[in-house]
Amino acid sequence: MSKLISLAIVAVTALLIQSSAAQTAHVVGGDFGWIVPPGGSIAYRTWAATQTFTVGDILVFNFTTGEQDVARVTKEAFDACNSTGPIFLEKTGPFNYTPDSAGEYYFIGTMDRRCTLGQKLAINVTALGPTPSPSPSSPPDAPAPVTPRGPVTYTVGDGLGWEVPPGGEVAYATWARNKVFMVGDILVFNFINETQDVAVVTKEAYETCNTTSTISILTTSPARVTLTSAGEYRFTSTYSRHCALGQKLTINVVASGPIPSPAPSSSPTAPAPVTPRSPVTYYIGDGLGWEVPPGGAVAYATWARNKDFMVGDTLVFNFINGTQDVAIVTKEAYESCNTTSTITILTTSPARVTLTTVSEHFFTSTYSRHCELGQKLAINVTGTTGTSPSPSPSIATPPTGTSTPTTSTPGSSSPSPTAGGPATAPPPSSSAPPRVIYGFSLITLLSTIFLAVFH
Ligand SMILES: *[C@@H]1O[C@H](CO)[C@@H](O)[C@H](O)[C@H]1NC(C)=O
Ligand SMILES: *[C@@H]1O[C@H](CO)[C@@H](O)[C@H](O)[C@H]1NC(C)=O
Ligand SMILES: *[C@@H]1O[C@H](CO)[C@@H](O)[C@H](O)[C@H]1NC(C)=O
Ligand SMILES: *[C@@H]1O[C@H](CO)[C@@H](O)[C@H](O)[C@H]1NC(C)=O
Ligand SMILES: *[C@@H]1O[C@H](CO)[C@@H](O)[C@H](O)[C@H]1NC(C)=O
Ligand SMILES: *[C@@H]1O[C@H](CO)[C@@H](O)[C@H](O)[C@H]1NC(C)=O
Ligand SMILES: *[C@@H]1O[C@H](CO)[C@@H](O)[C@H](O)[C@H]1NC(C)=O
Ligand SMILES: *[C@@H]1O[C@H](CO)[C@@H](O)[C@H](O)[C@H]1NC(C)=O
Repeated sequence: MSKLISLAIVAVTALLIQSSAAQTAHVVGGDFGWIVPPGGSIAYRTWAATQTFTVGDILVFNFTTGEQDVARVTKEAFDACNSTGPIFLEKTGPFNYTPDSAGEYYFIGTMDRRCTLGQKLAINVTALGPTPSPSPSSPPDAPAPVTPRGPVTYTVGDGLGWEVPPGGEVAYATWARNKVFMVGDILVFNFINETQDVAVVTKEAYETCNTTSTISILTTSPARVTLTSAGEYRFTSTYSRHCALGQKLTINVVASGPIPSPAPSSSPTAPAPVTPRSPVTYYIGDGLGWEVPPGGAVAYATWARNKDFMVGDTLVFNFINGTQDVAIVTKEAYESCNTTSTITILTTSPARVTLTTVSEHFFTSTYSRHCELGQKLAINVTGTTGTSPSPSPSIATPPTGTSTPTTSTPGSSSPSPTAGGPATAPPPSSSAPPRVIYGFSLITLLSTIFLAVFH
């Protein structure tokens, strides 16, 4: 009798195993789960590109209830980050979803600005074909094959710089992911002096966040670390709780192969050659959006570097209404951070600016101390796109509220403020406006730093 039961159990188990063998569980975003990815939506595009989705597979949206949600939406809603009337909305995580037919599936986070900031996933699900050979699927996170190349300079965190990341340590893990670090490469840590440091630490110190003893500490920004040997490198900050809050980076450095072409090291910051192309829409700061950047003005300089801006391109400034504005200013105003007089002020997000002239363009915010703290962007428009830009006014979103535009063609940006009175009326000029928090737990700490340092 008990033998029969055992047999039955074995049989059922075997059946279960067999029936689930073809069903793959995909944990969306891997270890990082379902969040606002630090690098913007490219994070989930990259992740999806490593997966094969088949009807019947399970998508696991791993998130904390209350901190994120997930909605399945149409392509249009996905493209527009429109969370009105989703196909479904799930607020409880983790959430498992099984696509039941072949086709494209679109998912977004609907909370605050999460979708705009990159919490969006598009996948292609294919029909169940003949069962493929049960080759163990190669690990999706396998590092890219190592091909010889010259030394690379990496800016840690890119526009985010080196700080306590809003999303926790996943930020630097995502940043490092899929990058190949080789002996000879250089890491550059950008931060505001005296608000951060870079501690090179052992594995134990890294894991326990005990920075009593470090291998070395770099205290001035930009801190440059040349990777001199193969192996794992670990970085954190000795500032109180920074490590625990996620300011930590671990990378694996591989030996460099023979350098292929002894190309005379071309200037690394040389702008890309200008070739005719279609108009491009640039999202200022990408996932960071338009705000006082944690790392100071270097953030937007880094963002703009190596991008080519042409007449016909569009700049989109994303920010939280009432906490920032976009002031188009002269070079003098940009450099002195004197926004008493501006060319134009845009007060509602997303603020779109179409580039209409070949020249330098300068942007900042009229909010108190924003410019000084680094919310400033200078770009060089170097040519014209293949398609002629529409002759419409260059500002698609006219400012509303208190300020009125002083000119309809701010793109002309001739270095003199338009006559007719400066478009002053800067919004609340008390201390920094309330930094609206989009669900992250750590902005508080950043704010504390800002307040401590700048007041
Ligand atoms: C989901 O996230 C939690 C917390 O990060 C983690 O412990 C857990 O292993 C994740 N689950 C899966 C299936 O990856
Ligand atoms: C968002 O989607 C809803 C429902 O599909 C639609 O009514 C609305 O106009 C859309 N909003 C925008 C801004 O496109
Ligand atoms: C799905 O596949 C089709 C055809 O290969 C492609 O055109 C489309 O862009 C893919 N969609 C996504 C979301 O990857
Ligand atoms: C931190 O590490 C030091 C030595 O590196 C050790 O003496 C100390 O006890 C550790 N502190 C904690 C709280 O573990
Ligand atoms: C940090 O301090 C160093 C040395 O005083 C200085 O050279 C550097 O420009 C400072 N960096 C920033 C970002 O302020
Ligand atoms: C700022 O610029 C305005 C005119 O654009 C000028 O009148 C004012 O003196 C400047 N303020 C400072 C502090 O330089
Ligand atoms: C900002 O305000 C404008 C006008 O009120 C609105 O259309 C837009 O959706 C708002 N943007 C954000 C990001 O809240
Ligand atoms: C724009 O380009 C000119 C000439 O190449 C250069 O002198 C200037 O510094 C550049 N401006 C900015 C803001 O990059």
